[in-house]
Amino acid sequence: MKHGRLLALMGTLGVGLCQSPDFPGSALAGITPREFELFQAGLDDFTEVETAEDGLGPAFNGASCAVCHAVPAIGGITAMTEVRAGHRDAAGKFTELNGSTLFQLFSTPPHTCQVRIPAEANVVARRAPIPLFGAGLVEAIGDETLLALEDPEDANGDGISGRAARIEDVAEHRMRIGRFGWKAQQATLLAFSGDAYRNEMGITNELFPLESAPGIEAAQLQLCSATRGMEDVRDRRTKLRAIDLFEAFMKFLAPIEPVSEDAGGLATFTATGCAACHTPVLTTARNANPVFDHKAVRLFSDLLLHDVGTGDGIPQGAAEADEIRTPGLWGLRFRRPLLHDGSAATVVEAIERHAGEATRVIERYRALPSAVREQLLRFLATL
Ligand code: HEC
Ligand code: HEC
Repeated sequence: MKHGRLLALMGTLGVGLCQSPDFPGSALAGITPREFELFQAGLDDFTEVETAEDGLGPAFNGASCAVCHAVPAIGGITAMTEVRAGHRDAAGKFTELNGSTLFQLFSTPPHTCQVRIPAEANVVARRAPIPLFGAGLVEAIGDETLLALEDPEDANGDGISGRAARIEDVAEHRMRIGRFGWKAQQATLLAFSGDAYRNEMGITNELFPLESAPGIEAAQLQLCSATRGMEDVRDRRTKLRAIDLFEAFMKFLAPIEPVSEDAGGLATFTATGCAACHTPVLTTARNANPVFDHKAVRLFSDLLLHDVGTGDGIPQGAAEADEIRTPGLWGLRFRRPLLHDGSAATVVEAIERHAGEATRVIERYRALPSAVREQLLRFLATL
């Protein structure tokens, strides 16, 4: 049975389980019946496979959000990686080729708008999906909380200089602190929904109204589109757009809880210096919705941009070429491979790859007595 259908059935039967975050993919505990209804409608849309007649393409990476966000439950990840590329000259200056760094992998028939990476591209990077469990809580963290964490000039001399990503929010047209995406390129789930719907699926919407297919002329795009005009139109009855439903699904999707509390392991994690970037807990700002009001978010991230020597060479939003936003470590036990490009198979491999701003911390990690290092790894395995 499809997960969405199962949840829907449990909702109909009034099974309480579906509102308790006991298994990945549940809704946040404590939401209202109306919010749960939106969550379910969002889940349905998130898994719906779109066709060219629905607006898919002409250039796209996947035919549904769930193609890339499905393990261990809808909202998670898959092995799909997308490709970003561009050109870096001898002086190190990066230029976008054909107006975008995202080169979609697929096209809809008759494939006259198939994107390809131009020969001049000498930076080609892969990006792995990011799980969405707990995303509504991440959204509810105030900009001021992230600004208070940043230390761009490394004033405290710990070798770590996290920067908050100052970006323009496409929905509200104002400066916000980005926190979603490997480059912290979006601040809200609505903006990310619009971005993903257009860029991953080729479905234009009010936030991203124009098709994007780098290297393909506008006139050609017209010819290979099965539809005309804005593709994500409001539903006549509910007045909601698909991007509103994606937003609702992700907003009310519960975080993955750790299997157990391990205070000793957490103390080692902090003493080693991992917590300098993987901040164990952030607190949400004041929120009219009690589910998001002043809540402790145990995500293990400062949501800031750092250069830990793993960067992909692609500047994006406020992020420089080699900066990556600290990933949350919640739900880590369900996630492999690791790192932004999926290049680390194990947690140890991911840790060993840290350099740059994390150099001193990693030196400390390497110097840990083996029993203590084991304790740290056991702790990470509970997340
Ligand atoms: C082809 C695969 C693919 C599809 C389809 C896809 N995503 Fe993603 N998603 C990704 C990748 C890859 C990232 C990381 C992108 C980056 O930062 O460069 C991501 C990141 C995200 C994030 C950021 C999460 C965080 O905590 O930082 C959100 C939100 C998101 N996707 C929502 C969606 C929605 C909504 C849809 C459907 C409209 C969708 N995605 C479709 C691959 C995909
Ligand atoms: C200077 C900031 C910083 C410090 C210190 C730091 N990390 Fe990270 N960590 C990052 C960033 C940034 C990434 C993402 C790198 C990438 O994907 O290219 C990351 C990635 C990871 C990942 C992979 C997560 C995923 O979803 O792919 C793990 C696991 C991890 N760190 C654990 C640790 C541990 C354990 C320590 C302490 C020994 C530590 N980190 C110290 C910033 C830091």
